[in-house]
Amino acid sequence: MTNDDKKGRNRQKSSSDMVNLMGNVEQKDDLTYNRRAFLKTAAGASVALGLSTVPFSVRAMMGIAEDESDRVEIAHVDQLPKGESLTFHYPTDNDPALLVHTMSGELVAYNSACTHLMCPVFYKKETDTLLCPCHKGYFDVNNGHPLEGPPQRELPMIHLEIDANIIYAVGRSYRHE
Ligand code: FES
Repeated sequence: MTNDDKKGRNRQKSSSDMVNLMGNVEQKDDLTYNRRAFLKTAAGASVALGLSTVPFSVRAMMGIAEDESDRVEIAHVDQLPKGESLTFHYPTDNDPALLVHTMSGELVAYNSACTHLMCPVFYKKETDTLLCPCHKGYFDVNNGHPLEGPPQRELPMIHLEIDANIIYAVGRSYRHE
């Protein structure tokens, strides 16, 4: 082997080393960019996940559960003057409920099985409260909280929506204790 051959081989080797080295540098850059992109994506995903779970966490901390139920038509607004109530079922046919047009003009609805021993609760216009006649339990018509008598837990609240003068039940929230 001549010296020129050796030089040529060396040159070839050193040029391929250069290519490898450059390749390594580029790979290193790629890794850095990929790491950055990954961290950015991970941070974005964490923020999005955090935001989406905060309301749920707060509700969970407050002991409030929510049903995702179908939208169900209850009545036409004209059917329920101020101070009147009507019964319906929600979210299933086994869940009796009461829709009330309070004396202050609000529309509210609750499941009407008393949280003491399940007797039906009625709206008492004279006192603008909800009454369970079984053991004289009273509930606040504005939020379903127990006011007097044996009941300790609030009535499950049914969420309402009014669309083209029709009142719909659209969900339910209740405390689970
Ligand atoms: S069942 Fe309602 S007060 Fe007892």
